[in-house]
Amino acid sequence: MKKTKGIILAGGSGSRLYPLTSVYSKQLLAVYDKPMIYYPLSTLMLAGIRDILIISTPEMLKWYRTLFKDGSHLGLNISYAEQNEPKGIAQAIIIGEKFIGKDNVMLILGDNIFYGDFTEIRDAKEKNLHSTIFAYYVKDPERYGIVAFNTNDKPKRLIEKPKKYISSYAVVGLYIYDSESPKIARSLKPSARGELEITDLNNAYLEKGRLEVIKLGRGFAWLDTGTPESLLDASNFIGTIESRQSLKVGCIEEVSLRMGFLKRSEYDSLVKNYPDSDYKKYLINIAKDIKNRENS
Ligand code: TTP
Repeated sequence: MKKTKGIILAGGSGSRLYPLTSVYSKQLLAVYDKPMIYYPLSTLMLAGIRDILIISTPEMLKWYRTLFKDGSHLGLNISYAEQNEPKGIAQAIIIGEKFIGKDNVMLILGDNIFYGDFTEIRDAKEKNLHSTIFAYYVKDPERYGIVAFNTNDKPKRLIEKPKKYISSYAVVGLYIYDSESPKIARSLKPSARGELEITDLNNAYLEKGRLEVIKLGRGFAWLDTGTPESLLDASNFIGTIESRQSLKVGCIEEVSLRMGFLKRSEYDSLVKNYPDSDYKKYLINIAKDIKNRENS
Protein backbone atom coordinates (compact mmCIF):
# COMPACT_ATOMS: atom_id res chain seq x y z
CA MET A 1 0.00 0.00 0.00
CA LYS A 2 1.28 3.44 -0.96
CA LYS A 3 1.81 6.12 1.62
CA THR A 4 -0.55 9.10 1.44
CA LYS A 5 0.42 12.62 2.41
CA GLY A 6 -1.98 15.51 2.99
CA ILE A 7 -2.26 19.05 1.65
CA ILE A 8 -4.52 21.73 3.15
CA LEU A 9 -5.16 24.59 0.76
CA ALA A 10 -5.79 27.62 2.93
CA GLY A 11 -5.18 30.60 0.66
CA GLY A 12 -7.67 32.25 -1.63
CA SER A 13 -9.11 35.74 -1.45
CA GLY A 14 -12.16 35.10 0.72
CA SER A 15 -13.89 37.96 -1.05
CA ARG A 16 -17.39 36.71 -0.27
CA LEU A 17 -16.63 37.06 3.43
CA TYR A 18 -15.38 40.65 3.23
CA PRO A 19 -14.92 42.56 5.62
CA LEU A 20 -14.40 39.49 7.88
CA THR A 21 -11.42 38.60 5.69
CA SER A 22 -9.96 42.10 5.40
CA VAL A 23 -7.27 41.26 7.98
CA TYR A 24 -7.52 37.52 8.62
CA SER A 25 -7.37 34.55 6.33
CA LYS A 26 -10.79 32.89 6.04
CA GLN A 27 -9.46 29.59 7.39
CA LEU A 28 -8.43 31.26 10.68
CA LEU A 29 -11.94 32.53 11.38
CA ALA A 30 -13.93 30.86 14.14
CA VAL A 31 -16.27 27.99 13.42
CA TYR A 32 -18.05 27.77 16.77
CA ASP A 33 -15.19 27.08 19.23
CA LYS A 34 -12.08 26.65 17.08
CA PRO A 35 -10.27 28.05 14.06
CA MET A 36 -11.79 26.78 10.82
CA ILE A 37 -8.60 25.00 9.73
CA TYR A 38 -8.84 22.60 12.72
CA TYR A 39 -11.69 20.81 10.91
CA PRO A 40 -9.92 19.95 7.63
CA LEU A 41 -6.75 19.15 9.59
CA SER A 42 -8.68 16.69 11.74
CA THR A 43 -10.20 15.13 8.61
CA LEU A 44 -6.74 14.35 7.24
CA MET A 45 -5.67 13.01 10.64
CA LEU A 46 -8.75 10.79 10.90
CA ALA A 47 -7.86 9.43 7.48
CA GLY A 48 -4.57 8.36 9.08
CA ILE A 49 -2.37 11.05 7.51
CA ARG A 50 0.55 12.51 9.46
CA ASP A 51 2.66 14.31 6.83
CA ILE A 52 0.86 17.53 6.02
CA LEU A 53 1.63 20.58 3.87
CA ILE A 54 -0.29 23.79 4.55
CA ILE A 55 -0.47 26.16 1.58
CA SER A 56 -1.51 29.76 2.09
CA THR A 57 -0.74 33.30 1.03
CA PRO A 58 2.72 34.70 1.91
CA GLU A 59 1.15 37.15 4.43
CA MET A 60 -0.89 34.49 6.25
CA LEU A 61 1.61 31.64 6.48
CA LYS A 62 3.20 33.10 9.62
CA TRP A 63 -0.09 32.68 11.48
CA TYR A 64 -0.38 29.04 10.46
CA ARG A 65 3.21 28.52 11.58
CA THR A 66 2.36 30.12 14.94
CA LEU A 67 -0.68 27.89 15.25
CA PHE A 68 0.81 24.52 14.32
CA LYS A 69 4.65 24.91 14.33
CA ASP A 70 6.20 21.70 12.95
CA GLY A 71 3.22 19.68 14.18
CA SER A 72 5.35 17.41 16.39
CA HIS A 73 3.33 18.31 19.52
CA LEU A 74 0.39 16.63 17.73
CA GLY A 75 2.45 13.70 16.49
CA LEU A 76 2.41 15.22 12.99
CA ASN A 77 4.96 16.48 10.53
CA ILE A 78 3.67 19.81 9.22
CA SER A 79 5.37 21.91 6.56
CA TYR A 80 4.32 25.10 4.78
CA ALA A 81 4.33 26.54 1.27
CA GLU A 82 3.26 29.80 -0.34
CA GLN A 83 0.70 30.40 -3.02
CA ASN A 84 1.57 33.89 -4.22
CA GLU A 85 -1.73 34.49 -5.94
CA PRO A 86 -5.00 32.54 -5.84
CA LYS A 87 -4.49 30.91 -9.22
CA GLY A 88 -6.73 27.92 -8.63
CA ILE A 89 -7.15 24.85 -6.49
CA ALA A 90 -5.24 22.61 -8.91
CA GLN A 91 -2.19 24.84 -8.43
CA ALA A 92 -1.85 23.35 -4.94
CA ILE A 93 -0.77 20.09 -6.54
CA ILE A 94 1.98 21.87 -8.49
CA ILE A 95 3.14 23.80 -5.40
CA GLY A 96 3.19 20.50 -3.51
CA GLU A 97 5.07 18.55 -6.19
CA LYS A 98 8.28 18.02 -4.18
CA PHE A 99 6.32 17.27 -1.03
CA ILE A 100 4.22 14.65 -2.84
CA GLY A 101 7.26 12.95 -4.37
CA LYS A 102 6.43 9.33 -5.11
CA ASP A 103 3.48 9.16 -2.70
CA ASN A 104 -0.26 9.61 -3.01
CA VAL A 105 -1.79 12.83 -1.77
CA MET A 106 -5.08 13.80 -0.16
CA LEU A 107 -5.90 17.44 -0.87
CA ILE A 108 -8.48 19.19 1.30
CA LEU A 109 -9.80 22.74 1.08
CA GLY A 110 -9.22 24.73 4.24
CA ASP A 111 -12.84 25.86 4.38
CA ASN A 112 -14.48 22.43 4.03
CA ILE A 113 -15.91 20.67 7.07
CA PHE A 114 -16.75 16.97 7.11
CA TYR A 115 -18.72 15.33 9.86
CA GLY A 116 -19.51 11.63 10.07
CA ASP A 117 -17.90 8.21 10.15
CA PHE A 118 -14.51 8.51 8.45
CA THR A 119 -14.10 4.79 7.71
CA GLU A 120 -15.23 5.35 4.13
CA ILE A 121 -12.65 8.08 3.57
CA ARG A 122 -9.89 6.06 5.20
CA ASP A 123 -10.78 3.04 3.04
CA ALA A 124 -10.85 5.18 -0.10
CA LYS A 125 -7.38 6.46 0.75
CA GLU A 126 -6.10 2.93 1.14
CA LYS A 127 -7.72 1.65 -2.05
CA ASN A 128 -6.86 4.64 -4.24
CA LEU A 129 -5.20 3.59 -7.49
CA HIS A 130 -5.04 6.89 -9.39
CA SER A 131 -7.60 9.42 -8.21
CA THR A 132 -10.64 9.33 -5.96
CA ILE A 133 -13.08 12.16 -5.37
CA PHE A 134 -16.24 12.39 -3.27
CA ALA A 135 -19.72 13.49 -4.32
CA TYR A 136 -22.50 14.89 -2.15
CA TYR A 137 -26.17 15.40 -2.95
CA VAL A 138 -27.07 19.12 -3.12
CA LYS A 139 -30.21 21.10 -3.91
CA ASP A 140 -28.42 23.89 -5.81
CA PRO A 141 -26.03 22.20 -8.27
CA GLU A 142 -25.46 25.41 -10.25
CA ARG A 143 -23.21 26.59 -7.37
CA TYR A 144 -20.73 23.71 -7.43
CA GLY A 145 -18.43 21.51 -9.51
CA ILE A 146 -20.88 18.74 -10.47
CA VAL A 147 -20.41 15.11 -11.45
CA ALA A 148 -22.89 13.20 -13.65
CA PHE A 149 -23.04 9.40 -13.54
CA ASN A 150 -23.68 6.60 -16.07
CA THR A 151 -26.43 4.07 -15.43
CA ASN A 152 -23.81 1.80 -13.81
CA ASP A 153 -22.97 4.65 -11.39
CA LYS A 154 -19.59 5.36 -12.96
CA PRO A 155 -18.65 9.04 -13.48
CA LYS A 156 -19.61 10.30 -16.94
CA ARG A 157 -18.64 13.95 -16.87
CA LEU A 158 -17.69 16.80 -14.58
CA ILE A 159 -18.77 20.38 -15.08
CA GLU A 160 -17.91 23.44 -13.04
CA LYS A 161 -21.08 25.35 -11.99
CA PRO A 162 -23.34 23.95 -14.76
CA LYS A 163 -26.01 26.37 -16.04
CA LYS A 164 -28.10 23.42 -17.30
CA TYR A 165 -28.99 20.58 -14.93
CA ILE A 166 -26.76 17.50 -15.33
CA SER A 167 -26.88 15.95 -11.84
CA SER A 168 -27.42 16.83 -8.18
CA TYR A 169 -24.02 15.56 -7.00
CA ALA A 170 -21.44 18.18 -6.07
CA VAL A 171 -17.75 17.33 -5.90
CA VAL A 172 -16.62 18.17 -2.37
CA GLY A 173 -13.29 19.75 -1.44
CA LEU A 174 -11.49 16.49 -0.70
CA TYR A 175 -9.49 14.75 -3.42
CA ILE A 176 -7.04 11.86 -3.53
CA TYR A 177 -4.42 11.68 -6.30
CA ASP A 178 -1.41 9.59 -7.25
CA SER A 179 2.09 10.94 -7.77
CA GLU A 180 1.34 11.64 -11.45
CA SER A 181 -0.95 14.51 -10.42
CA PRO A 182 1.63 17.35 -10.46
CA LYS A 183 2.61 16.43 -14.01
CA ILE A 184 -1.04 16.40 -15.11
CA ALA A 185 -1.77 19.66 -13.25
CA ARG A 186 1.15 21.33 -15.03
CA SER A 187 -0.36 20.43 -18.40
CA LEU A 188 -3.67 22.22 -17.60
CA LYS A 189 -4.52 25.56 -19.17
CA PRO A 190 -5.95 28.33 -16.97
CA SER A 191 -9.71 28.77 -17.29
CA ALA A 192 -11.51 31.94 -18.37
CA ARG A 193 -11.25 33.19 -14.76
CA GLY A 194 -7.48 32.65 -14.90
CA GLU A 195 -7.39 29.66 -12.52
CA LEU A 196 -6.09 26.12 -12.79
CA GLU A 197 -9.38 24.38 -12.17
CA ILE A 198 -9.58 21.25 -10.03
CA THR A 199 -12.48 20.15 -12.28
CA ASP A 200 -10.04 20.12 -15.22
CA LEU A 201 -7.59 17.96 -13.26
CA ASN A 202 -10.41 15.56 -12.37
CA ASN A 203 -11.58 15.52 -15.99
CA ALA A 204 -8.05 14.65 -17.12
CA TYR A 205 -8.16 11.58 -14.82
CA LEU A 206 -11.69 10.77 -15.99
CA GLU A 207 -10.63 10.81 -19.65
CA LYS A 208 -7.94 8.24 -18.86
CA GLY A 209 -10.52 6.09 -17.04
CA ARG A 210 -8.64 6.71 -13.81
CA LEU A 211 -11.20 8.54 -11.70
CA GLU A 212 -13.13 6.90 -8.90
CA VAL A 213 -16.11 8.79 -7.44
CA ILE A 214 -17.55 7.87 -4.06
CA LYS A 215 -20.97 9.19 -3.05
CA LEU A 216 -21.03 10.30 0.57
CA GLY A 217 -24.26 9.08 2.11
CA ARG A 218 -26.84 10.46 4.52
CA GLY A 219 -24.66 9.77 7.55
CA PHE A 220 -22.28 12.43 6.34
CA ALA A 221 -22.50 16.18 6.64
CA TRP A 222 -20.43 18.34 4.34
CA LEU A 223 -20.28 22.06 4.96
CA ASP A 224 -18.36 24.74 3.18
CA THR A 225 -18.03 28.05 4.86
CA GLY A 226 -17.41 30.60 2.12
CA THR A 227 -20.30 33.00 2.79
CA PRO A 228 -21.51 34.71 6.00
CA GLU A 229 -24.65 32.51 5.98
CA SER A 230 -22.78 29.24 5.51
CA LEU A 231 -20.19 30.27 8.12
CA LEU A 232 -22.96 30.88 10.66
CA ASP A 233 -24.68 27.62 9.64
CA ALA A 234 -21.43 25.75 10.21
CA SER A 235 -20.98 27.30 13.67
CA ASN A 236 -24.56 26.47 14.59
CA PHE A 237 -24.21 22.92 13.28
CA ILE A 238 -20.99 22.25 15.22
CA GLY A 239 -22.42 23.95 18.33
CA THR A 240 -25.55 21.78 18.23
CA ILE A 241 -23.64 18.52 17.69
CA GLU A 242 -21.11 19.36 20.41
CA SER A 243 -23.71 20.24 22.99
CA ARG A 244 -25.96 17.22 22.26
CA GLN A 245 -23.15 14.68 22.08
CA SER A 246 -20.89 16.25 24.72
CA LEU A 247 -18.09 15.45 22.26
CA LYS A 248 -16.11 17.88 20.17
CA VAL A 249 -15.82 17.91 16.39
CA GLY A 250 -12.43 18.74 14.85
CA CYS A 251 -10.57 18.54 18.17
CA ILE A 252 -7.06 17.87 16.88
CA GLU A 253 -5.49 16.88 20.22
CA GLU A 254 -8.22 14.32 20.87
CA VAL A 255 -7.80 12.93 17.35
CA SER A 256 -4.03 12.61 17.92
CA LEU A 257 -4.65 10.62 21.08
CA ARG A 258 -7.35 8.39 19.57
CA MET A 259 -5.31 7.75 16.40
CA GLY A 260 -2.25 6.84 18.48
CA PHE A 261 -0.20 9.73 17.04
CA LEU A 262 0.59 10.82 20.60
CA LYS A 263 1.40 8.68 23.60
CA ARG A 264 -0.71 9.38 26.66
CA SER A 265 2.27 11.00 28.45
CA GLU A 266 2.93 13.31 25.47
CA TYR A 267 -0.73 14.25 25.35
CA ASP A 268 -0.82 14.98 29.08
CA SER A 269 2.20 17.26 28.97
CA LEU A 270 0.79 19.12 25.96
CA VAL A 271 -2.60 19.69 27.57
CA LYS A 272 -1.10 20.63 30.96
CA ASN A 273 0.25 23.86 29.45
CA TYR A 274 -3.02 24.98 27.86
CA PRO A 275 -4.79 28.03 29.29
CA ASP A 276 -7.62 27.28 31.70
CA SER A 277 -10.60 26.87 29.44
CA ASP A 278 -13.49 24.57 28.65
CA TYR A 279 -11.32 23.21 25.84
CA LYS A 280 -8.63 22.15 28.33
CA LYS A 281 -11.24 20.62 30.65
CA TYR A 282 -12.67 18.69 27.73
CA LEU A 283 -9.23 17.35 26.76
CA ILE A 284 -8.52 16.22 30.33
CA ASN A 285 -11.91 14.53 30.67
CA ILE A 286 -11.79 12.78 27.33
CA ALA A 287 -8.40 11.27 28.14
CA LYS A 288 -9.73 10.03 31.50
CA ASP A 289 -12.64 8.38 29.70
CA ILE A 290 -10.37 6.70 27.15
CA LYS A 291 -8.14 5.38 29.96
CA ASN A 292 -11.12 4.18 31.95
CA ARG A 293 -12.44 2.20 29.02
CA GLU A 294 -9.03 0.73 28.27
CA ASN A 295 -8.79 -0.49 31.86
CA SER A 296 -12.29 -1.94 32.10
P1 TTP B 1 -13.12 29.55 -2.88
O1 TTP B 1 -14.08 29.60 -1.75
O2 TTP B 1 -13.63 29.12 -4.20
O3 TTP B 1 -12.41 30.96 -3.04
P2 TTP B 1 -11.96 31.98 -1.94
O4 TTP B 1 -11.62 31.34 -0.64
O5 TTP B 1 -10.89 32.82 -2.56
O6 TTP B 1 -13.28 32.83 -1.65
P3 TTP B 1 -14.10 33.85 -2.55
O7 TTP B 1 -14.70 33.07 -3.66
O8 TTP B 1 -15.13 34.36 -1.57
O9 TTP B 1 -13.17 34.94 -2.98
O10 TTP B 1 -11.91 28.61 -2.50
C1 TTP B 1 -12.11 27.36 -1.91
C2 TTP B 1 -10.96 27.06 -0.99
O11 TTP B 1 -9.73 26.97 -1.71
C3 TTP B 1 -10.73 28.11 0.07
O12 TTP B 1 -10.31 27.41 1.26
C4 TTP B 1 -9.61 28.93 -0.47
C5 TTP B 1 -8.82 27.95 -1.27
N1 TTP B 1 -8.16 28.50 -2.44
C6 TTP B 1 -6.81 28.76 -2.40
O13 TTP B 1 -6.17 28.60 -1.36
N2 TTP B 1 -6.18 29.18 -3.52
C7 TTP B 1 -6.85 29.39 -4.69
O14 TTP B 1 -6.20 29.76 -5.68
C8 TTP B 1 -8.26 29.15 -4.71
C9 TTP B 1 -9.04 29.36 -5.96
C10 TTP B 1 -8.88 28.70 -3.58
